[in-house]
Amino acid sequence: MRTPLIAANWKMHKALKEAVDFVGRFAALASAGSMEIVICPAFVHLAAVGEICQKHGIKLGAQNMFWEATGAFTGEISPPMLKDLGVDYVIIGHSERREHFAENDRQIARKVKAAFQFNLVPILCVGETLQQRRASRTMDVIAEQVNGALSGLDPSWVRRIVIAYEPVWAIGSGLAATGSVAGAAGAWIRATIGEMFSLDVARAVRILYGGSVQAENIEDFLRETDIDGALVGGASLDADNFARLVNRAQEAVTA
Ligand code: PGA
Repeated sequence: MRTPLIAANWKMHKALKEAVDFVGRFAALASAGSMEIVICPAFVHLAAVGEICQKHGIKLGAQNMFWEATGAFTGEISPPMLKDLGVDYVIIGHSERREHFAENDRQIARKVKAAFQFNLVPILCVGETLQQRRASRTMDVIAEQVNGALSGLDPSWVRRIVIAYEPVWAIGSGLAATGSVAGAAGAWIRATIGEMFSLDVARAVRILYGGSVQAENIEDFLRETDIDGALVGGASLDADNFARLVNRAQEAVTA
């Protein structure tokens, strides 16, 4: 049984007070039931947000990290630093990092490995651009990214990973994928992991959909057998809105 997971990716949004106030209000309005909720604020807000999250049974996530544990890497944040702050999850390889910060599969693989070494759960993001979709390359791109990030890893680590299928054209565009597009990508990711590791590992991995998820469409994704939750950007920024989305998700997973 895979535990459904809804993760909020706040990106570079919110001032400190806003970030802190969000959690109490959201917790008062949302009933997550058995679902796991993860909030990923900016690095500088992890400590303050994490303290309140802990009181409400909400997990804390970071949006990125470096792969080395310590050293002369000005401006970088290491896995043990995140661990110290009570971080459980870390988003790795988000398309905005691939695009604006030139992150490649090799670097992403190092980050995924480092996350596991320090007992953080990576939320690995994969997904095709519009151009790649138009060229019918979607499934190849996804398989390449999954292969690039996971090959050579210990299967006992891989079974704990969360993979977010986030088509680049759906992120922040208001044009979400359909449930069946997300479901097909989820099935493909699971099959790819099955081939790389084993069916048992593939069945354990949680797969999320991300890209313009809203309270209004969350059920479309959760209905899919191979989709276990969502990575939510824009619709996670307002506490009332995000609570509505989580409540809808909770209804969908218990239906
Ligand atoms: P969005 O972002 O929900 O605003 O489309 C999702 C993401 O980038 O993870």
